[in-house]
Amino acid sequence: MPKVTFKDDDLTVEAEMGANLRDTAQAEGASIPFGCEQGICGTCLINIPVGEENISDIEDQEKETLSAMGAEPGQRLACQCQVEGDLEIESAH
Ligand code: FES
Repeated sequence: MPKVTFKDDDLTVEAEMGANLRDTAQAEGASIPFGCEQGICGTCLINIPVGEENISDIEDQEKETLSAMGAEPGQRLACQCQVEGDLEIESAH
């Protein structure tokens, strides 16, 4: 199973392949903040120092929100991401 490291919490957990990153974070008590959970508010903006290629492809709503926020390349919205391999993530706020 993929390993997800929440750097803000110094916490590494195993996730099911295809698990939503929000569900994983919340189930494990990670401190990444969430708001709308629909890819609109931008609260869950994350950096992915390791494993960017192991997150599901970006879809239109997330792309639109990241663009409106002026997010940096490589930043993602955790509520819109599925785990597809090992990752290290941290809140971008
Ligand atoms: S919680 Fe609002 S965009 Fe993820």
